[in-house]
This record gives sequence, structure tokens and C-alpha cells, in this order.
Amino acid sequence: MTLSPLARCALALLAAAAGVPLAQAATPAELLAGYVKQAGAPGSPERGQRLFNTKFDGDFNWSCATCHTADPSQPGTHAVSGKPVKPLAPAFNPERFTNLTQVEFHFKLNCKDVIGRECSAGEKADVMSWLLSLKR
Ligand code: HEC
Repeated sequence: MTLSPLARCALALLAAAAGVPLAQAATPAELLAGYVKQAGAPGSPERGQRLFNTKFDGDFNWSCATCHTADPSQPGTHAVSGKPVKPLAPAFNPERFTNLTQVEFHFKLNCKDVIGRECSAGEKADVMSWLLSLKR
């Protein structure tokens, strides 16, 4: 479907009114590219996997894998609520890493809970490059 510029403009206005963050919609590859650019270095899947599975001394003694499992192609379980957590790897859950605001919110929250500080752009690039390397 091709939309006239006017129709596209109207759509964008509608989306904005509905609170849909149009400008934030992205692909996992775009988000990874953003973190790589910020970090000034490519992500390392090996480092990402290691970080993901490291249990940090802290308030909870959690790793990312505590809730997401060591195999993020699989669903996990929330350590506190016991609720299921859908797979984190985009090849197994196409909703993942498609919204910068959401991704930043969870990186911030989870890195603080697990590591006791926010993750750097380089660490986010590492984790994402590992998650994106997991294929069906
Ligand atoms: C206490 C449980 C828990 C731990 C520990 C945890 N997460 Fe999560 N994570 C969640 C939940 C719950 C969500 C949001 C619900 C959902 O989307 O399934 C989420 C969502 C995310 C998202 C959002 C992805 C998207 O696009 O939807 C990212 C990124 C993420 N987590 C990364 C991490 C990283 C990195 C760590 C380790 C530093 C970590 N998480 C540790 C529970 C956890």
C-alpha cells in the first residue's frame, strides 16, 4: 500500500494521539547499531553471554539468567512473581528489541537490580550481539 504524504501525516498524528511511539519503533539490528556507535566498539557475543550468566553479589544475588534462563530462546520465570517471561532472543520472540524506550527502561531497571549499576553502552551491545546470534 502506498500512502500519499498527506495520508502518512494524518496517520502519524493519529499514532501520536494514541500514544504510539512511532519514532521509537526500530529493528533489533538498528538498536544494536546505536549501542555500538555509542560505545565506539563492536559488541562481543562471548562477553555478552558471560555478563548475562554472571551472578553478581548484591541485594539479590541474581544474574540476567535468573529470570531469562541461560538459554534466552526459551521462556523464563520471574524470580519474584513467578510469572512467565517470554523469550528474550528476537529470533524466538519478534516483539523483542523493537522499541528503544522499552529496551532502555528494562536495561536500566534490570542492570541496577542485578549488577547494582546501569549497564554501559558497550555492555548493552555485548548482550544484544549475543542475543541476536541465537538463531532458530
Ligand atoms: C527479576 C527478573 C529479571 C532479571 C533478573 C532480569 N530481567 Fe530482563 N526482564 C524481566 C521482565 C519481567 C521483563 C519484561 C517483561 C517481558 O517483556 O517479558 C524483562 C525485559 C527485559 C528487556 C526488554 C526487551 C524487550 O525489548 O522487550 C531487556 C533488554 C532485558 N530484560 C534485559 C535484561 C538484562 C540484560 C538482565 C541482566 C542484567 C536482565 N534483563 C535481568 C525480568 C528480569
